[in-house]
Amino acid sequence: MILYFTGTGNSKFVADYIAEKLDDETVSLNRIIKNKEKLICTSEKPYVIVAPIYAWRLPAVVEETIKEAQLNGCRKVYCLATMGENSGNADKYIKKIITDKGMTFAGYIGIAMQNNYLFMEKMPKPRDASKALHNIIPKLEKISLAIKNNEALYKDDRTLFAAFMSGAVNAGFNRFMVKKQELKADDDCVSCGKCAELCPVNNIEMQEGKPVFTGNCCGCLACLHHCPKKAINVKNQTQDKGRYICPDYHMWKFKNK
Ligand SMILES: Cc1cc2nc3c(=O)[nH]c(=O)nc-3n(C[C@H](O)[C@H](O)[C@H](O)COP(=O)(O)O)c2cc1C
Repeated sequence: MILYFTGTGNSKFVADYIAEKLDDETVSLNRIIKNKEKLICTSEKPYVIVAPIYAWRLPAVVEETIKEAQLNGCRKVYCLATMGENSGNADKYIKKIITDKGMTFAGYIGIAMQNNYLFMEKMPKPRDASKALHNIIPKLEKISLAIKNNEALYKDDRTLFAAFMSGAVNAGFNRFMVKKQELKADDDCVSCGKCAELCPVNNIEMQEGKPVFTGNCCGCLACLHHCPKKAINVKNQTQDKGRYICPDYHMWKFKNK
């Protein structure tokens, strides 16, 4: 069973690819988290967690959801993280959560994809983003084969000062940069409500037709990237950075046949 969390679709792309290759099903953690449900599931096949890296670790909401989850059936869990460049010690944290549940951690691997943290770089044009996805297919193929053959996965990315980045820096980032992120909708907002609908932690309330951010952001940036009018920004830092949405895997495959 493939359990995925996503803000801009990279992790869903990977989850859909792996599910197809393993002939398995996907479960959206976005939906579980949004509906404040406890994740209870049963799978005969290994569990595969697919999620982005936020400040050198899996998103806090994902770690929390997996900690609380009741995963029945197969005792084996893999973790695939999508990331811009590197993932610090993210593997060590998720491994501890899995082993504390009495389950077997079968390995972790980071998959470098478009970095959606647009404060650092300009987002690519959709055509270029779509082309770039070809680069990760060989790695996804290898990962699927390894999981199918019951083999372990091994982390192949490195981060300087990994323990510090995934420890103190991650804690500071979550505390000061994520939760109270200064997101704001400008006058281009057309009150479509897509941001509130997509927000996995219900941080957005539509008040008099406009999104109001309630100080409980998880950092996924789905609202900002998916806004059809690019009306959501962080201060004056994101206006000219473009936006990014990863193509849906099945549509992408169909178009690239
Ligand atoms: C708040 C935030 C923090 C991030 N931190 C990292 C990081 O520490 N290392 C990295 O390589 N990428 C980082 N990224 C990039 C994402 O991990 C990457 O783009 C991921 O594939 C997005 O997945 P998604 O499309 O499923 O949301 C960060 C992105 C966000 C939004």
